[in-house]
Amino acid sequence: MAEIKTVGVLGCGLMGSGIAQVCAQAGYRTIVREVSDALNQKGKANIIASLDKLVQKGKLDGGTREQILNRLQFTTDLKELAPCDLVIEAVTEDLELKNSLWKELDGLCGPQTIFASNTSSLTIAAMAAVTSRGDRFVGLHFFNPVPVMKLVEVVRTVTTSQATFEQAMAFARSLGKEPIAAKDSSGFIVNLLLVPYLLDAIRALERGVGSVEDIDKGMTLGCGHPMGPFTLLDFVGLDTTYKIAEIMFNEYREARYAPPPLLRRMVLTGMYGRKTGRGFYDYSTNPPTVSNLGL
Ligand code: 3HC
Repeated sequence: MAEIKTVGVLGCGLMGSGIAQVCAQAGYRTIVREVSDALNQKGKANIIASLDKLVQKGKLDGGTREQILNRLQFTTDLKELAPCDLVIEAVTEDLELKNSLWKELDGLCGPQTIFASNTSSLTIAAMAAVTSRGDRFVGLHFFNPVPVMKLVEVVRTVTTSQATFEQAMAFARSLGKEPIAAKDSSGFIVNLLLVPYLLDAIRALERGVGSVEDIDKGMTLGCGHPMGPFTLLDFVGLDTTYKIAEIMFNEYREARYAPPPLLRRMVLTGMYGRKTGRGFYDYSTNPPTVSNLGL
């Protein structure tokens, strides 16, 4: 197995920028690919803001910040990922889009390159199958905010070799993360439990069991969660949650994974949460206020 020195990251959104940051912080040369220069700039700005937070707190010095940024390269050209030893994909939860990228990369990268998807809910086997490297295909599922959350789910599919799985576990540890092994089952371990909980919170709101604020307060003060379900939904993104729920519902056909009507309406009208400035809370005010959802 080739040593991992250069990592490619596909997509530089919320997850991709965090993944690129932790790879560069761990000393890997990191090549990020987005579809436009504007998206690359946005992702880079997120990384800089996150590193600056660490500098302000005295957890990182200015010189190390520069070294980390120097390890990062941004491109719109997929061909520049050819020299990577590992490619981590963090694009939208859309199997067709992901597979078109994997097919192209399969022809560009050397036979040793390991492919890893950060998918939250899609089947890893469905991606591995469009490449010639099923044995070198894994899931590496990170959590938001990536620089802070310690967990990575390492997902082994039916074709993943033991050597690739072990290398992926070691890679996650090299990032300072704590890996757990999960089977290639939609939602893996965390989202299998988290997604129905978040959807149940929306259903409770639809039924008038409690207000957004009180349901959030219930779970933070009653269960010690760092964020209540609506704050977390806005943080993860309602668009992302909706896509994950649909994928999990299609896989399991169980009502608990079905996206509630309120979630669908919010997504249809662009209320994606923090990323668009409005979700269950309105982020145009400081502190944010509960959105008027006409309930
Ligand atoms: N980069 C660097 N550091 C960051 C950061 C970032 N993007 N965001 C937060 N931090 C740091 C802060 O600087 C702070 O550091 P300190 O402890 O040294 O002071 C620390 O993290 C805590 O941040 P804050 O004090 O600003 O705020 P909180 O104490 O409220 O913590 C939180 C923020 C860590 C996000 C916490 O609220 C939390 O754990 N929330 C739950 C997050 C969660 O559940 N994530 C999983 C989502 S599910 C998912 O991602 C899977 C996907 O498939 C859907």
